[in-house]
Amino acid sequence: MKICVVGAGYVGLVAALSFAKYKNDVICVDKDIKKVKQLNKGIPTIYEEGLEPLLNKCLKKKYILFTDNINKAISLSDVIMIAVGTPTKPDWSVDISQVVDASVEISKEIDKYKVIIIKSTVPVGTHEVVENLLLKNGVDRNNFDVVSNPEFLREGRALNDFLHGDRMVIGCKSEKAQKVMDELYSPFKTKIINTNPPTAELIKYASNALLATKISFINEMANLCSKVDANIDTLSYGLGLDSRISPEFLRAGIGYGGSCFPKDTKALVNIGEKYGCEFNIIRSTIKVNENQRLKPVEILLDHYNKIEGKTISLLGLTFKPGTDDIRDAPSLFIIDELLQMGARIRCYDPMVSEEIKSLFPNITYCDSIEDTVRDSYCTIICTELDEFFKMDLESIAKKMKKRVLIDGRNMIDIEEARKSGFSYYYSIGNGSF
Ligand code: UGA
Repeated sequence: MKICVVGAGYVGLVAALSFAKYKNDVICVDKDIKKVKQLNKGIPTIYEEGLEPLLNKCLKKKYILFTDNINKAISLSDVIMIAVGTPTKPDWSVDISQVVDASVEISKEIDKYKVIIIKSTVPVGTHEVVENLLLKNGVDRNNFDVVSNPEFLREGRALNDFLHGDRMVIGCKSEKAQKVMDELYSPFKTKIINTNPPTAELIKYASNALLATKISFINEMANLCSKVDANIDTLSYGLGLDSRISPEFLRAGIGYGGSCFPKDTKALVNIGEKYGCEFNIIRSTIKVNENQRLKPVEILLDHYNKIEGKTISLLGLTFKPGTDDIRDAPSLFIIDELLQMGARIRCYDPMVSEEIKSLFPNITYCDSIEDTVRDSYCTIICTELDEFFKMDLESIAKKMKKRVLIDGRNMIDIEEARKSGFSYYYSIGNGSF
């Protein structure tokens, strides 16, 4: 099939490469010419397992091409997938302007039947916005169908999730488009759910909101565990064994971050409001998470009363392991709060990028765990990176000014922390001393 993917961001790039893997003729468009040139050279623009070899293989076989010429790419394709960003605005409404812009370009290039797939996460009803725009711009009704086809990929496992995900949701109103979608996804080993576009659009938000809610729920339980000497790991395990609940997304910590949960939960509340639905549970999920990501600061204040002038070290900055993404990462909120209180910050993350450095130019970025913790009054683990599981706790404790460890991701065994010479240890519901 001839496929044009509009947007070479996280979702667009993964989708484009997945289709190219199955020998489709893929043109991936992005207006960022620097990105286009880099991708055409086989250099990934994001870190994602398995992406680099697949990109190079597909480029070599000419199954994929990157361009900034959207009009040519659209005119050459039978299927156009919109995979552009849909950021949440400060009032929590969703900015679909990039979807609209792409649709305007699409409307200029339709002279024969094309299927337009909305891959971006969009508010319910966006398929109609796109349809109406095309009709308003004079496109013949028989020359297009709009399909809603949300993605459920996780950063770090995006390729695997795209190719072998739990499900593929297709919201389609026409039989003709349904046939094209069936063919497009026939090589994928995933369960297909065929439904109407509004349901497809909503499944995406509902899925992220429910996962975020599980995390906030377990974090509230963890905060109680901390007070009554209960153990959140065992509690999560006991909960998760109930097959109606599942063990996934029951890991307590300093809250969720990333480009999806924070934005999609707020967007869903905003969408609900438009239809008179309160979404009280999701509002609480958001509130709990906002408090949870500042838990280490609360614990520090309890311990020291005053943080001004003290050096605090942070281990891990990204919102989760396996990515270089810091969007809405709990670490950013912690750094911001600590800086306001006058703390000096040293931090370590092997994925640290210039982007992070430019966000906080006044903190010290170190190259090793041991260098980071030097002379600090507290070490806070913000991301559960593999190397933190293996770190030499005794040597770390010795290098610190005060042997205080806040384990924001429940990685360290409490007895290990005690034996290693820490004087104060706090986890999120997994014990403290
Ligand atoms: C999430 C969803 O998991 C994907 O299904 C969805 O497609 C994607 O958003 C999206 O909308 O594009 P992602 O943001 O990559 O994927 O990351 P997750 O692995 O879901 O983790 C999100 C956050 O939750 C991380 O900060 C992680 O540390 C936190 N988390 C996750 C917990 O605190 N506890 C858990 O048990 C699980």
